[in-house]
Amino acid sequence: MAVGIFDSGLGGLTVLDAVAKRLPDVPLVYYGDSAHAPYGVRTPDDIYDLTTKATQRLFDAGCDLVILACNTASAAALRRMQEGWVPEGKRVLGVFVPLIEALTERQWGDNSPPREVNAKHVALFATPATVSSRAFQRELAFRAIGVDVEAQACGGVVDAIEDGDMILAEALVRSHVDALKRKMPDPDAAVLGCTHYPLMEKEFQAALGPDVKVFSQANLVAESLADYLDRRPEMIGPGTQSAFLTSGDPGQVSSRATQFLRRQIMFDAA
Ligand code: DGL
Repeated sequence: MAVGIFDSGLGGLTVLDAVAKRLPDVPLVYYGDSAHAPYGVRTPDDIYDLTTKATQRLFDAGCDLVILACNTASAAALRRMQEGWVPEGKRVLGVFVPLIEALTERQWGDNSPPREVNAKHVALFATPATVSSRAFQRELAFRAIGVDVEAQACGGVVDAIEDGDMILAEALVRSHVDALKRKMPDPDAAVLGCTHYPLMEKEFQAALGPDVKVFSQANLVAESLADYLDRRPEMIGPGTQSAFLTSGDPGQVSSRATQFLRRQIMFDAA
C-alpha cells in the first residue's frame, strides 16, 4: 500500500510532511524532478511530458494513486492527463481543489452552485506557468461569486529554494509582495499557490501583514487525501515501502530536504 506524491523538486515535501503526519500508516513514495526544476517557466507541453514520465515512475513503484503536489503540473497537465493518459485503475489528483474549497468555505466535493464567500480580495502567489494558465480563477469561478483575484507570478523563488539560497528567496518574496500590493493594496486573503512557498510562509505573512489570512496547501491536501482514502480505501496501491526518489543529485537533494524538514531524508536516484 503506497501513495505517490510528485513535485518538480523539493516543494512537494511540504505536502508529504503533512500527509505523513495525518496518515502515519500509509507508505508514501515521493518523486522530486529536481533535474528539471523549475517547471514554472516551462511550456504546458513540456510540463505534461515531464509530469507523465514521473507519474509513470510512481505507478511502477506500486502506487495506484498519485498526488501532483505541484500547482504548476496540476494547472498545466492534470486535466490533459485525466482526459487521455491515466490508465484504468489508477488515479491522479491535484492540489488546487482542496485549497479552493477551503477558501470558499466548502466541504470536500460540495458541487453546489457558486455563492458569495467571505474572501473578497484575494492575492494569488504562484509560478509564471500557474498564473498564465488561469486554472485558479477557473476553479474559483465554479464555486464563488464576487471574488476579486490579483495574481503575482513569483519568478525566481523556486530556483532560490531549490538552490538552498534562502536569503535570495526571502528578498524575492518581499519584492513580489510589494508588487502585488501595488496592484491590490488591501487583500483580505492570500493563497500560496506553489508547494515550495510554505517553506517561506513566515516571510509571506510578515510582508503581507497580520490582517491577511494566508492559505497554504499542505494540511488542506492531507485532510482531503485522508477523506478520499476513507471513501476509496482500494486506491491505496500495492507498494509497501516508503521511498524518496529524485532525478537530480541524490546527495545534494537529500541534504536540502533534511534541512527543510528538519529530519533525516535520504533520496535515491529515480
Ligand atoms: N512546487 C511547484 C508548484 O507548486 C513548483 C514549481 C516549479 O517547479 O516551478 O507549482
